[in-house]
Amino acid sequence: MSLAELQKIEVTAAKPYPVFLGAPLEELGEYLHSQFKDLEHILIITNRAVAELYVERLQKGLREYRVNVLFVPAGETEKSLERLSQLTTAALRFGTDRHTLVIALGGGVIGDLAGFFASVFMRGIRLVQVPTTLLAQVDSSIGGKVAVNHPAGKNIIGAFYPPRAVWTDFTTLDSLPWGEVENGLAESIKHALIADSGLFDFFETQEESLKRRDPSIWRAMVTRSSTIKVKIVSQDECEQGVRALLNLGHSFGHALETGMNYRSVTHGQGVSIGLVAAAHLAKTKGLMTEAEVDRVKCLLSTYGLPTEIAIKGQDPQSLLQLMQADKKNQGGRKILILPQGIGQAVISKDCSDPEILDAWKQVVYVE
Ligand code: NAD
Ligand code: GLY
Repeated sequence: MSLAELQKIEVTAAKPYPVFLGAPLEELGEYLHSQFKDLEHILIITNRAVAELYVERLQKGLREYRVNVLFVPAGETEKSLERLSQLTTAALRFGTDRHTLVIALGGGVIGDLAGFFASVFMRGIRLVQVPTTLLAQVDSSIGGKVAVNHPAGKNIIGAFYPPRAVWTDFTTLDSLPWGEVENGLAESIKHALIADSGLFDFFETQEESLKRRDPSIWRAMVTRSSTIKVKIVSQDECEQGVRALLNLGHSFGHALETGMNYRSVTHGQGVSIGLVAAAHLAKTKGLMTEAEVDRVKCLLSTYGLPTEIAIKGQDPQSLLQLMQADKKNQGGRKILILPQGIGQAVISKDCSDPEILDAWKQVVYVE
């Protein structure tokens, strides 16, 4: 397929960039050649599992460049300042300079970490996101949010750093274990709940085809979901308004991930439980009916996602405390995103702590 034939959607932000959909890994080199005449050195940041599967295919197209591969162990705990420092040491050893281009090859953890590295190394070097998980393809690779975690909160140290391009090869999803697919479905169902009731219906009716990984149905789902993300970040790249809606479920989910030390609950599971908590809160605020809350819970369960969780070492009150580090808060006041029926969401500034605590109690029980 020639570059001109590849499907792409454009993020029309301050620095516009294309999101290629269904673009073969082997062809990224040709695209880079067409865009960056001065490019000589490429640093691929990935983990070993992803590299074993895909780095050879990617490197096939990069033969004219000097390419180094940097490996990061898998896992959310790798999104840390310690790992960033180790990456910097290794990158310097490889002769990385201001003209180097970073390719983040992997899921959301690699995308966020490598992206943050690219944003601060020598005050910023070029970045291309090559997402290989469903979550990264429909969500994290698009929009330029890059970050590492801090013990006090998730993604607390980060930046808005748009990539030069997002290169999405759907075939990488073939090797993704179902548990990881579920994590991506949580974000994709979130997109449906925020902005596209038709996509929500699609998830309800296409269960069998999606679980069978029917290629055309998957393509439709990834395309529709990433298009929602592109549209929202194009309107509000730096989250001054509408982009905040993309955090639906995340204030709860992030608190849960932080409370569990980024170990026993994945990001997708946290989002799933957070969506249910937000739906309960929306019902309290008169924004959702009981039947709509049940529809959300039912859809998440259909795809194997949790709608409640047993926790040790935390309780609803301590999780409420952890929400204080949420980046949306203003002057100590909690700002929450709530669904309004199916297919719309609102920013709510008037949820009281007792109301939020009540929502927590609907989704967590202490072991
Ligand atoms: P992940 O990056 O940890 O990847 C999950 C696992 O899948 C890893 O073990 C990885 O090795 C493996 N993997 C990756 N691609 C594979 C493939 N094609 N085949 C087989 N295995 C593969 O997890 P994730 O769910 O992709 O990302 C979660 C992260 O994304 C969280 O840190 C979250 O905060 C972040 N996130 C960021 C944004 C954003 O806008 N920047 C949005 C949503 C989530
Ligand atoms: N995942 C939330 C955002 O990109 O804004």
